[in-house]
Amino acid sequence: MRKQIVAGNWKMNKSLEEGLGLYKAISSQTEASSKEVIVAAPFTHLSSLVALAKGGSVKIAAQNCHHELSGAYTGEVSAAMLSDLGVTYVILGHSERRAYANESNALLSKKVDAALAQNLKVIYCCGETLEERQSKGHFDLITQQITEGLFHLDASVLKNIVLAYEPVWAIGTGQTASSAQAQEMHAHIRKVVATKYGKASADTTCILYGGSCNPTNAKELFSQNDVDGGLIGGASLNAANFTSICKA
Ligand code: 13P
Repeated sequence: MRKQIVAGNWKMNKSLEEGLGLYKAISSQTEASSKEVIVAAPFTHLSSLVALAKGGSVKIAAQNCHHELSGAYTGEVSAAMLSDLGVTYVILGHSERRAYANESNALLSKKVDAALAQNLKVIYCCGETLEERQSKGHFDLITQQITEGLFHLDASVLKNIVLAYEPVWAIGTGQTASSAQAQEMHAHIRKVVATKYGKASADTTCILYGGSCNPTNAKELFSQNDVDGGLIGGASLNAANFTSICKA
């Protein structure tokens, strides 16, 4: 059986005090969760969150890292720094970073290497825009994002990669992918992974859905064969909503 994961991506939200309060509420309400619960917080909150999370079951993630381990890169944070803090996961390739920070698959492949080399696990995001879906290019695009970002990796490190399918048109729009659309793309992604790494590896790879996932639609989405949990934006900012999704 594959692991089920629910990860909250706080993006650029919450003061430190608010974030710590939210974390405490989430951690106390998800203690018995059969799913792995992850909180991806702003860099400034990570140190305090890691300290709070010690001994608990909720894992802490960063939302990005640089592709070099150190150097003259003003304002950047390296994978080595995150690893040093005790962070477990890093999200890479989120569509907001692809769009606003021009992150390419080639750059992301280097970030993935940097993260894995520092013993971080990676949540690697892929997803198409509405135009790409309407022009029927979405399957090829997702294949390309995964191939160029990840397929240089050795099969032995695949266990440290979680994939997240986040259609751009569903992020923050309230318009979620239907469970059939999500399942269709997740099955495609698993097939792509199997083509490169074999069916056994693909069958143990977690593929999360993200995009307007909420307490009402989570159960239906998570019940699809190839949907192994969710990457949650807006609904992760509220403890009741997020924990309800964790229990879905
Ligand atoms: P929303 O859940 O707000 O649509 O965001 C999804 C997302 O981008 C998570 O990374």
